[in-house]
Amino acid sequence: MDDEHYWDEFYSGHNAVGFPSPFAEFCESHLLDDTSHILELGPGNGRDAFFFYDHGHQVTAIDQSHAAVEQCQKRASEVRRPNLVRFRCDDFTRVDPTEFRDIDAVYSRFTLHSIDDEAEERVIDFAWQVLRAQGQLLVEARTVNDPLYGKGTRIGEHEFITDHYRRHLDAQQLLRRVLDRGFQLHFFHESDGLAPFQDENPVVVRMAMIRP
Ligand SMILES: C[S@@+](CC[C@H](N)C(=O)[O-])C[C@H]1O[C@@H](n2cnc3c(N)ncnc32)[C@H](O)[C@@H]1O
Repeated sequence: MDDEHYWDEFYSGHNAVGFPSPFAEFCESHLLDDTSHILELGPGNGRDAFFFYDHGHQVTAIDQSHAAVEQCQKRASEVRRPNLVRFRCDDFTRVDPTEFRDIDAVYSRFTLHSIDDEAEERVIDFAWQVLRAQGQLLVEARTVNDPLYGKGTRIGEHEFITDHYRRHLDAQQLLRRVLDRGFQLHFFHESDGLAPFQDENPVVVRMAMIRP
């Protein structure tokens, strides 16, 4: 099964989480302005997108899973201001940056480890192009120190397939890449304890970079 179908099946079921992630709460209270236009990469069932919307932000979100996007679009059609929370079905690593302007924050939670290294480079470049001056690239993703590292079939450096694809991030390498692209460091932390869920305690990198 390819990843698109994996996430379609996942979001067609009823196992997706309904509450916002700790990262979304962290970003909302520490990093975002009062009303930001957030471009979310890989919103899944929209748990964080709707949380940001509920806090007064505008959200545009892109996910490859038709099932997830359909659910989110239905939910968006029922909110008071549906034009402020929009979902689109697409590969976020291949979107034309000229379609977006003056984005305040590009938000990616648990999605950078879903794409390969070349796609990560494209995403960083995409974020650079769509963000306004002083806009932020906000990322949380599993690293090479995560307990799931090594599970499944190894298909490349730090890349494994269990029931879906994961590429665990080397946090320092990611940091070098975003700094090389020109971003400035605002917040950077790798640890467990940031994204606990049920009996899992992933080791993740949390990063906020500013586009000068
Ligand atoms: C682990 S889930 C995370 C969902 C959500 N951000 C959260 O934290 O609950 C990864 C999501 O990214 C999406 N995704 C992965 N690669 C993608 C790509 N290249 N383009 C669009 N969506 C992608 C998947 O469809 C899935 O919804």
